Parts: sequence; structure tokens; C-alpha cells
Amino acid sequence: MHKSAKDLAALIPPGFTLGVATAAFQIEGALDEDGRGKSGWEVFAAKPGAIVGDHSPAIATDHYHRMPQDVALLKQLGVDSYRFSFSWPRIQPGGTGPVNRAGLAFYDRLLDELLANGISPMATIYHWDTPLELDEAGGWMNRDMAYRLGEYAGLVADAFGDRVARWVTINEPATVSANGYSLGVHSPGKELALGAFPTVHHQLLGHGLAVQALRAAGVPGEIGMTNVYSPMVPNSINPLDKLSAGLMDLGQNRLYADPVLTGKYPDVIRAAKFFSSFEHPEEDMQIISQPLDFYGLNYYMPTKVAVGPGSGAVPPSMAEAMGSDLNAAGGGATPFHVEAWPEADITAYGWPVKPEYMAVALKEMAERYPNLPPVIITEGGASFEDIIVRDKSTNTRFIPDERRLKYISDHLEAALKATAPGGEAESVDLRGYYVWSFLDNFEWSAGYKQPFGLLHVDFETLERTPKASYFWFQELIEERDLALAADAAIAQAVVPEALDGIEAPDDGAALGASA
Ligand code: BGC
Repeated sequence: MHKSAKDLAALIPPGFTLGVATAAFQIEGALDEDGRGKSGWEVFAAKPGAIVGDHSPAIATDHYHRMPQDVALLKQLGVDSYRFSFSWPRIQPGGTGPVNRAGLAFYDRLLDELLANGISPMATIYHWDTPLELDEAGGWMNRDMAYRLGEYAGLVADAFGDRVARWVTINEPATVSANGYSLGVHSPGKELALGAFPTVHHQLLGHGLAVQALRAAGVPGEIGMTNVYSPMVPNSINPLDKLSAGLMDLGQNRLYADPVLTGKYPDVIRAAKFFSSFEHPEEDMQIISQPLDFYGLNYYMPTKVAVGPGSGAVPPSMAEAMGSDLNAAGGGATPFHVEAWPEADITAYGWPVKPEYMAVALKEMAERYPNLPPVIITEGGASFEDIIVRDKSTNTRFIPDERRLKYISDHLEAALKATAPGGEAESVDLRGYYVWSFLDNFEWSAGYKQPFGLLHVDFETLERTPKASYFWFQELIEERDLALAADAAIAQAVVPEALDGIEAPDDGAALGASA
């Protein structure tokens, strides 16, 4: 059983953000409207077999046309904050040159609508929808991409800097490099195996240049980036399994976090032959490792690793759910592979449900990075097949997604406990948790087959229906607000009494100012 909303709410510290997340390409649709340019993703998605069921992202959830109704559903949910992404090809078609005014106007309306409803905007600048022209010029294999991202970040900073409370420069570069350039199961569909390494550096450099652009524009919002993190667990005590897990950890976690948080690539990577195959001057490392206001962490699952050839990065069950043949797509490229967790509950994607590893992820981050900025879980959630129950007497629909609800509750609880005083990651200053996702959406190569939403979307009628998890999250937020209000009332009643008889210091400094 998961905790009751009330008991979980009691663990949430003041100032902690509860939010939900989405990304432009997964929800907007309207790909050919109002001057939007093409992105590499829609070209990739149009290739037969690239997406499960050959599903098309053309309409997705139709959020572009339904934005005010969606914001009303966010308001009803009661979230503190909404994480969304700007669509690069909508704002700057072609990836260079002037902005598309109609594209900017959409996000103007979205930001105004959010603020009018008391919802704090968190904006991701790059969530994978690269303008097609930039993909055709080599995409992230081309160092120039980093400068293009920096320039585009400057454009959105100028247009929206006054309203965005939190900025995520770039989302999960690890997934772009692994799925898009090593294995070819995401856009742009390259199967370069280890040859994809330059895409790592160029994305990280793009992140750093985006930070510079945001700071140069003087945006008042907090600035961070988002990496996915999966604790790597050896399959057995066999030293080769341990070594394999260490290699996976290097390639999936440390490769992306070390440069940002320490200014250096891990030594093993620096010693590798491919490291000299592209430019990475010391100045780049300084740009990449600029101090951040927060570090975004996406946590979904741990990974069990065993020695022996395989595709390495993607669990076979997930590859199946994505409809991809990893033997054709770089299979056998690594001397190790991902193993199943036979005893664990698994999601529709085949991902193991292991909330206890949330604490491990936070602990490992704290141990590895002494200068870790405040952390925000920028994504966490699960895909499960949903069943719609119809109540004929009232003609209402109900979606009892207990497993999703439990997943989110257990993971949030694990994160809160681990970072509370006495917890195993107590040094981590955890500032928030964003559920992936607000609504069912276009789940990249898995099309519409992997629903992560708190809101169900009927992809025929585009009707939204709140699931049980939506109502639970709403209750959690209400309980959190009640608990905070009660704490504030107690503090107000007790503090003046406690201060009775305490004399003001001679210098007249305000009592409590330093508390
Ligand atoms: C991505 C999302 C994606 C989610 C579930 C994350 O890797 O940022 O875009 O939908 O995981 O797969």
C-alpha cells in the first residue's frame, strides 16, 4: 500500500514544488501551422516502422489548439508549477535566423494563461525537436549545433525572460546520444555506436552556451539542466558484472553529469581513443560547468547490468515496447547488457518499479558531487495500460490507474525521506518533483502505446479524462496546503509567546531575522 495523501503531504517541506511535465513535440500537434518549420523528428517518425503502429505525431494531443482548456485542467489539479518545452522549429524555423512571430505568440499566450491561473512556468529550451535543417547539417555531430542552441536560448530569453520562473536548458542529452545517434531508435536515426561520442560533448556545450545566453539576457528565473539518472546495479557478485555496471554508469550517468558538475570528463573516458576524435578545449569545459541554480534529475528506474554482448543501453523489454529491432540497430555493440529484474513489478514499457533506488540515485549524486546545487526531480512517472470504466447510471467514465498512482506516491515518498534530516541523501537540497506526465502523449518511438498521463487522452476524439492518479495528486496538493497552513498558524500562535521576555539586542537587529 502507498501512504495516504495526508501522510505523504506531511513529509513535504515548505517551498517544495509539486508539478507536472510535458514536452512540445509530444503534445502540441499543429506541425504545419502558423509558420512552424519542420523538425527532424517528424521526418524520422514518417519512416515506416520507426514508430510503433506507425503512429503519427501530426495531431498528438492537439494541445496547440486546446491550450486554454489544458491550463484550466492544470489549475483544477492545483499544481504549483508546469514544466513544458518550447518548440525550436516553431520559434526559429530552420534553426537559424529570425524568429517566427506567430510561434512566439503561442508561448506568450501559454505563459500569460499559466500566470493568470497562479501556475509557475518551468520551460525547457530543448526537448529533442531539432529543426530539420540542423539535423541535415549533421545535427549534434556538428559542433555548430551547440552555437545554434545558444543563439536560440538567447531568443527565448529575450521573449520570455520576464515570465519563466525556472529554465531547463536541455533535456536528457544521454537519451539523445544513445537512442538518436548510437542505436538509431530515435531521431535522427543514426547507428553510430561509440562513434556518437561527439554528440555528448556538443550537447553539453550547447547547454553551457544556453546558460551564458540566459545570464547575458539577465533573466530573473532560476537556471538548470536535466539529466536522466539510473543507478547501475551489477547482476551478481561476479567481478565482470560489477565492472560492466561501472561501465554503464560511466556511459549513461557520469559522462553527462561529471562535466556539468565537476568540469571534467571521467578519467576512463579521457583515456579512451575516441576522446581525441573531436575538439574539447579547456574553455569548453568552463562553459559546460558554469554554476547552476538547480540540477534537474529525471528518475524512472534502476538498471541491472551483466557481462556479455548486447545493445547495452536499452532494456530488451523496452526495445520490444518501442517496436525496435536492436540487433539491427547497434545490437552487440557493447560487451555487457541490461538484465531483467524477475522479482520486480514492471511498467508497460518493461521498466522495473523500484522506488528504493530513488534514494540510491540521490545518495550517489550527493557522494559524487560535493558542489551539487539544489536538485529538482524534473520527471518521474510510469506507463501502464489504462482501463476505462463506464458508470451507466451516471454516464461518467472512471480510470482506476492505481499502479501509476502508487508508483508516483512511492517514488515521491522515497525522495522526500532520503533528503529529510537523517535520510541517506540528507545533504541533497531537494526542491521539487514533477510528474511525467500531465497528459497521455506521443511517447517517441512507442507512439501512443505508452500512456504516462494523469489525464487520459482519447486519441480519436482528443477528449481528456482525469484518471484516479489525477484526483489523488489533487488531494495530495490540497493536503499539503492544509498542513502548511496549519504549521503557519501554529508558528504564528507560538512564536510571539516564545519571544516574550527576550530582550532585543542592543544594535536593534530585528529578532528572528537570522533564524
Ligand atoms: C523524456 C520524456 C519521455 C519520458 C518517458 C524521458 O526520457 O524526457 O520525453 O516521454 O522519459 O519515456
